[in-house]
Amino acid sequence: MTARQKQGYERYTTLTPESYEKQGIMTYLCRMPSDRKIIPFLSQIKGKSILDVGLGTGDYTRLLLNDNRVVGVDQNPHLCRLGIKVHKGDATQLSNIVGNEKFDVVLSTWMTEYLNPGQLSVFLSEAKKVLNEQGIFISTFISTYCLGYTYVKLAKVLKGIDKYCYPKKEIINKLKNLGFTNIKIINLNSWLYITWAYLIVAEK
Ligand SMILES: C[S@@+](CC[C@H](N)C(=O)[O-])C[C@H]1O[C@@H](n2cnc3c(N)ncnc32)[C@H](O)[C@@H]1O
Repeated sequence: MTARQKQGYERYTTLTPESYEKQGIMTYLCRMPSDRKIIPFLSQIKGKSILDVGLGTGDYTRLLLNDNRVVGVDQNPHLCRLGIKVHKGDATQLSNIVGNEKFDVVLSTWMTEYLNPGQLSVFLSEAKKVLNEQGIFISTFISTYCLGYTYVKLAKVLKGIDKYCYPKKEIINKLKNLGFTNIKIINLNSWLYITWAYLIVAEK
């Protein structure tokens, strides 16, 4: 019998919300500059029901809660102290987790890098199942170019964590095959103005 491959989300199991907030250098180099595009984009969302998949401590969820209703799904629900409903569960099992409930938006930020290609396909298909008609899927993906690729490789070399990056074309094809339309891509840059990730927005 082979040992079970450790899942990326297991790295958060022993973290508290406080220890999670202690960020590494890649947060400063890559994630914080990306917020200059992500935060204004998310701030436009109003009056929606949102499923935030892999919300962690809920940094983006907090912003959305002013004008929307947000439900979370995370393998580590203990990280979120926002007082909202957070289901413990996997991104690949959304329809089982939320039952018959449907959402206007399925959002996922900095989670897809923990999904291998098979898991990613299932996540996208599950996201579609839990969206309302005309629902919107919004998610970040790490780019296969340069800094994105380096980010993923460093996670393996320095921390032994499997992370995944995906070419835009692959994600677009997967979304189109599932019937998503009007797919938009927003490039996310590091401090060096090099694209390292991208935000995809797609309509059901
Ligand atoms: C890097 S944190 C991102 C947190 C938050 N979305 C943000 O942008 O700050 C990744 C989160 O995704 C969760 N996660 C990773 N893989 C998951 C999976 N397969 N199913 C559900 N949650 C997952 C982790 O537990 C963690 O809370």
